Amino acid sequence: MAQIIDGKAVAQAVKENVARKVEQLQERGIRPCLAVIIIGDDPASRTYVNNKKKACEATGILSKEISLDKETTTEQLLNVINELNDDMSVHGILCQLPLPKQIDENKIIAAISPEKDVDAFHALNVGRLFQGVQNLQPCTPSGVIVLLDYYGLPIEGKNCVIIGRSNIVGKPMAMLLLQRNGTVTVAHSKTADLKAITGMADILISAVGKPGFVTADMVKEGAIVIDVGINRDEQGKLCGDVCFDEVEKKASFITPVPGGVGPMTVAMLMENTVRAARLQYQ
Ligand code: GUN
Repeated sequence: MAQIIDGKAVAQAVKENVARKVEQLQERGIRPCLAVIIIGDDPASRTYVNNKKKACEATGILSKEISLDKETTTEQLLNVINELNDDMSVHGILCQLPLPKQIDENKIIAAISPEKDVDAFHALNVGRLFQGVQNLQPCTPSGVIVLLDYYGLPIEGKNCVIIGRSNIVGKPMAMLLLQRNGTVTVAHSKTADLKAITGMADILISAVGKPGFVTADMVKEGAIVIDVGINRDEQGKLCGDVCFDEVEKKASFITPVPGGVGPMTVAMLMENTVRAARLQYQ
């Protein structure tokens, strides 16, 4: 039976560390502030934004919600972002994705000041990640690295297989694992003989977004399995990509959903907000 990786507990430790850094900044008269933009009334986005606001409260970060109508245009959203870019009291800006279809997501990501880009989605931050330059790092992938480190699981020399090649998870995850000297394979929906590839993974990371996608026959005995998926099953219950009950019997370590990677994403967002505040005062 696998050991469960307790993302909730690790996230709590990260947030306590962030709270100490916030106190230190406040002694210098700086109150880190995160602006979160939410557009429309998608219930999942609402839940994520509420979680982010709660984490701000817990760590002493000031949160500022900007809630916009679902009919908002690209131009209107760009104006809001420009105001936040110019606002010296705001250190981090996050625009909750996905955006309504009339909004040009690429333009929005490009408009957020790289110094305030706590998602690290801006091309400059993506480029820095490729170069391995220390900077704001994407929250979900960096949360996965912190989890592995926390449990003392080495990455160097390991076969790391990521399923999924999104800009938010798959691609940046590959870069972070590579920085740590992992041997990285990125599999995706067009990959031939997926099972043969995932079966070689010492560290298997699933970011597919399909319940039940990763079955026990895809997993090597003793592998570390990280489930980045956040889905709803047929009963509407929160679940990941991994068939937890069967894979748990084969893996050495496994993250649950909920309570695995999800809380880490939010904790790393807090970490990035403090980092952004520090960058802006250097
Ligand atoms: N929607 C789903 N994940 C994310 C994320 O990490 N950041 C933002 N801004 N939106 C998301």
